Amino acid sequence: MRRSIAFTATLLVLAGSAWPAETEIDSDFMQAVEDVNNSLSSDIAERNAKAIVAEAKDLLSRFEQIQLYYEHKGEADDAVKLSRKSRDLAAEIVTLVSAKDFDTAAQKATDLSRACKTCHNFYKKS
Ligand code: HEC
Repeated sequence: MRRSIAFTATLLVLAGSAWPAETEIDSDFMQAVEDVNNSLSSDIAERNAKAIVAEAKDLLSRFEQIQLYYEHKGEADDAVKLSRKSRDLAAEIVTLVSAKDFDTAAQKATDLSRACKTCHNFYKKS
């Protein structure tokens, strides 16, 4: 994504040789999000609580990084909101699964996948 490369380059210039604190949101990063999200869906279907909790926590921290990235980038209010919403959904999945409420957790996972698509409609170029 050209804009994010330019953004990182600017940061590197501003920060001298220091590497920017936030992760770059590129296709490798997103591919990892996709893989974890797919595992999450199948583990919810199989009611594998231990795996679900680990995956939802993993997604939570990834969305934290996405949120940071867009906060620093600026002029991306929708992306910041969607990252925050995704974090909240991942956190709810952890709570629900810990209480063995797999059905509601499955609904939240559907909402989460919807948030992915909404952000892609706004911000994904291809
Ligand atoms: C806040 C915005 C945002 C959210 C939320 C988001 N994405 Fe993305 N996603 C992007 C952007 C921007 C790109 C384009 C990145 C690039 O190619 O540099 C992308 C690209 C992708 C790609 C394509 C990667 C490739 O190989 O080119 C996949 C797959 C993907 N996202 C999966 C997901 C999944 C699954 C979720 C939800 C669990 C999700 N994304 C949530 C912004 C988001």
